[in-house]
Amino acid sequence: MLRDLVIKSRSYRRFYQAEAVRMEDLRELVDLARLSPSARNAQPLRFFISCDPQKNAVIFEHLAWAGYLKGWGGPVEGERPAAYIIILGDTEISQTFGCDQGIAAQSMLLGAVEKGLGGCILGSIQRPGLQAYLNIPQKYEILLVLAIGKPKETVVIEPVGADGNIQYYRDENQVHHVPKRSLEDLILS
Ligand SMILES: Cc1cc2nc3c(=O)[nH]c(=O)nc-3n(C[C@H](O)[C@H](O)[C@H](O)COP(=O)(O)O)c2cc1C
Repeated sequence: MLRDLVIKSRSYRRFYQAEAVRMEDLRELVDLARLSPSARNAQPLRFFISCDPQKNAVIFEHLAWAGYLKGWGGPVEGERPAAYIIILGDTEISQTFGCDQGIAAQSMLLGAVEKGLGGCILGSIQRPGLQAYLNIPQKYEILLVLAIGKPKETVVIEPVGADGNIQYYRDENQVHHVPKRSLEDLILS
């Protein structure tokens, strides 16, 4: 069921780094993005894919992980993503990309979960450095990075408490908790 897939598709930030992700799997995920909605059907998104350890190391250095987890600098060596998909916008097709990249990202994350993988959307990116290191031509704008791998952590959803705090946190067993607002709080009527 789609609901089960959506619930299972959490933001995972620790992975079995040694469990390789196949290039073919990344291509199949990008194909899901290709089939997703696009404003004016302009289809301006392009995708840089990597399951190469050296490229992955460069990409990792340009990302910021889990801002609410103070004192955690992101996944340690051995628990880093085995693959990345960098979502790019072709500025020769469009100057603004609306929410195309968000839709594409979610399609690909759901596809990853269906494959027994998982991932995390990252928008906190040192864009100029990453673009230069990967030799990505200037006509492409780096929009989002998707980290992909075999998840090595448990993530649970729970209701936002009475204090209204929406910050995710890790408990003493390293389980990652994500508060979600209630349906009643979201729907205006
Ligand atoms: C547009 C966008 C940008 C995000 N950027 C980051 C990021 O830079 N670093 C990070 O660790 N998580 C990032 N996240 C993941 C969110 O923190 C995560 O979705 C949120 O905590 C809720 O958890 P959930 O995805 O498991 O529901 C991003 C999510 C979205 C949608």
